[in-house]
Amino acid sequence: MKLAIVYTSITGNTEELAEILSGCFRQQGMETDCYPLGDFSLDSISGYDSLVIGTYTWGDGDVPEELLPLQQELLHCPRLVTGIFGTGDSFYPNFCGAVDVLHDIFLDAVSLKIELSPQRIDMLQIENFVGQIIGA
Ligand SMILES: Cc1cc2nc3c(=O)[nH]c(=O)nc-3n(C[C@H](O)[C@H](O)[C@H](O)COP(=O)(O)O)c2cc1C
Repeated sequence: MKLAIVYTSITGNTEELAEILSGCFRQQGMETDCYPLGDFSLDSISGYDSLVIGTYTWGDGDVPEELLPLQQELLHCPRLVTGIFGTGDSFYPNFCGAVDVLHDIFLDAVSLKIELSPQRIDMLQIENFVGQIIGA
């Protein structure tokens, strides 16, 4: 079972979460590659059994524009997407709205929303997310 985490991040919160998740998946024995979106080639999708997407939220609960080509490509193989995670700011009305938008598309995926930068208190939620994906 080979898993890719592909994430987009501007100020580093989602990147930090992606790195924590990557460590958790590896600790559970999962072969895991972790890519910033710009380093991930759409051609390599077929080499993975599972894809986990990470995103911040933009605008009013929007998916960042740079993620749209990957989102479009994955419509051809929606079951490949097993997890969607994101960081957001609960100051905004649509907290982690991008995670909700993607979850509405990839219905079988497990989702995880974290407030800004991941903290120690978030670890249980993070470990549950990983456990659900591995068990899925
Ligand atoms: C212009 C702008 C719009 C945002 N809109 C939302 C939003 O609708 N919902 C939300 O939860 N967070 C929103 N955020 C907060 C970011 O998603 C949050 O800071 C996130 O952790 C940034 O991730 P990054 O550090 O990986 O770039 C917004 C931030 C900016 C600057």
